[in-house]
This record gives sequence, C-alpha cells and structure tokens, in this order.
Amino acid sequence: MVRRYKYPKFLSRPRGYVVLLLLSFLCTMYSMLHFIYYKPGRANALLYRYQAMQETVIDYVYYGGIRRQKWQLKQGLASTAAQTIPYLPLNYNYSNFDVCPEKFPEMKGQIYVNMTEIPLSEVNTNFSHIIQHGGSWEPHDCIAAWNVAFLIPFRNRYEHLPILFRHLLPMLIKQRIKFSIFVINQEGDDLFNRALLLNIGFVEAMKIDHSFDCFVFHDVDHIPENDRNYYGCTGMPCLFAEQLDIHGYRLEYEDFFGGVNGVTTQQFKNVNGFSNQFWGWGGEDDDFYTRIRHYGYNVSRPPNNYGKYQSIVNHHTQERQYLGRFSRLKHSVEQNFIDGLNSLHYNKPTIRHYPLFTNISLKLRPDG
Ligand code: BGC
Repeated sequence: MVRRYKYPKFLSRPRGYVVLLLLSFLCTMYSMLHFIYYKPGRANALLYRYQAMQETVIDYVYYGGIRRQKWQLKQGLASTAAQTIPYLPLNYNYSNFDVCPEKFPEMKGQIYVNMTEIPLSEVNTNFSHIIQHGGSWEPHDCIAAWNVAFLIPFRNRYEHLPILFRHLLPMLIKQRIKFSIFVINQEGDDLFNRALLLNIGFVEAMKIDHSFDCFVFHDVDHIPENDRNYYGCTGMPCLFAEQLDIHGYRLEYEDFFGGVNGVTTQQFKNVNGFSNQFWGWGGEDDDFYTRIRHYGYNVSRPPNNYGKYQSIVNHHTQERQYLGRFSRLKHSVEQNFIDGLNSLHYNKPTIRHYPLFTNISLKLRPDG
C-alpha cells in the first residue's frame, strides 16, 4: 500500500498558503534588513555589483556591447601608456639639496597585491631598520617635498594592519615622502565613530609634529594597487581611493569622498574638521564632502586610473549602520560651524610608539 504524505491541515485551505507566503516574506524582509543593518559595507558592495551587472546587460541589449568595449579600450590604453612612459630616466640625477621630484623611476605603476596574512612582527622585522620607531621616515637623498601624516581609524582589525603596511611603506619610500603613521584606535564596544577618531588623530598628531603639510585618512582595509598614486599634498583635497575592486572598480557616486582621502592641514582647520556626531557606519565622509565643497574646494582624483584599491575581505567585522545619517546630512552646512574641531571633547588617550606606527588609543561614548 502506498502511504500518502499528509500535508498539515491548514494548508488544505487557501488561507493557509497565504499565511505561509506572508510568513516567508516577513522572514526574508527581516533577514535582509538585519543584513543591511549589521553588514552595511557588504550590502553596499552587493548593490554596486548589481548596478554594474544591470549596466552590462543594458549595454549588450541596447548598444551591442559598444559602451563596454569603448570603456575597456580607454582603460587599457590609459594603463599601458602609464606603465611604459618612464617617469624619470633610470639614471636621473638629483642632489641631496634638491627638493624630491614627485615622479621617480622606481614608481612603475601596478604593484603586486599580496593579501596573505602575516604577523605584524614579520613586517616590523622587514621595515624597522628603515622606519623610525613610532612610524616616521624621510628621504635622505633629496629634500622631501611634503610632510604627510597618515591617520588610520582602527578597531579590532589586527590582521589588516600588517597587510596594509606591507604595501604602503615601500610605496611611500619610493615616492620620497616624509611621513608619519598614526593608528587611532577606538577601545571598547560602543558604536564606532570614525570621524571623531580622525579629529582626535589630527589634534594629537599636531601636538607631536605641528609641521605636517597635509593629512591622509586611510582605511585599514584599503590596499593601493598602483605606486604612481602619489600621496603627496599636491591636488588636495584628493580622493585617492577612486576605484575599489569590490565595487567593480567604479567610483561609487560622484560626491563619494570615503576610504582613502586627504586634505591639507589648513583646509582641515578651515572646514572645522569632521563632524563628531556620526556614530556607527556611514555618512561621516558624505558630511565631510559637503564641508569641503561648502568652502569652495574642488576634489581631485588620481589620473590614469592610478586610484585603484583592493579591499581586504577576511576578518571584516562590520560596524552597525548609522540609520540617522540621512536626516543629519540634510543639516551638514548649518552644523559645520558648531560641530567639529571646535566642539571636540575627549578623554586623554593612551599614546604608544610601536616600530611602524604611533598608536593613539581611547574609549569613545555617544553620551560623552
Ligand atoms: C555612506 C558612506 C559610504 C558610501 C560608500 C554611503 O551610503 O553614507 O559613508 O562611504 O555609502 O560605501
């Protein structure tokens, strides 16, 4: 005798199916919202990938793939040209008394990106005989054109730091930039505040060396792919990370000013730094962009597709979204004068000098 599978009784009625459909819809919505809230970076990356896919389909259906071909041609030509034009002849001569040029023969373009995890101690061993304890360096065969402070906002990304250093340090040395690296670490489990960390980093770094010409705000998981992406202060404000691999190497949106960017010391003071009010993921860079534009500064981006970066995907603990950012962003201009460097309050941070960086560490609380 064949036993027939019995469906639950409520499914024998049409209303049962409606209930089931509604439940699965609610579950899907809940999981989606949960994902967007807790993994905003991933959600964004997926969205950008979806948009890229959509554009490719439209291109093939309506334009027979011509737009993509044109784009590839432009990219290809630009990068080949960039790789083959020698920056300076290999035997180029300059003296210790000359200001370092911005283009050196060693800056060959595309660099090999190695995402293998290594302990910090290994990178320390490789570079500590070159870099001064505390994370600074300056060229000795010419006079550095710029003194640049690198501020890296940080929390629990210990695997990322050595990977970044392995790529960034040789690149800066090739570019003959005088630099100092500061890691600004937020202790504890309170909501992350990237912008507040950067304001604090600015004030503390200036106490250590008040002669910085400009500041580069560098996310720890952004690995540069091209050593011709010059980190000096020319063309500031500058969005260095113009194209990120996880976003299909496209500029996220026209006003995007996140990931890796820089401003001169004077520009940072003029715009009153970052807002201190962005608790959680997102929005602080958009607000900063508004400040920059409000003061009439134009943002530059690296030429010839030099601004390509790879994102470290492992150990990517994500911060929660700041959902209130959209309404806050509506008031960026008015808030500019009252919220920023001039309203900065924080407890004394712990400052420690490590072989490759200076660590500025403190706890931050939304309620002060
Ligand atoms: C956020 C920015 C973020 C950008 C790109 C925006 O929605 O507000 O903070 O940098 O997405 O991921």
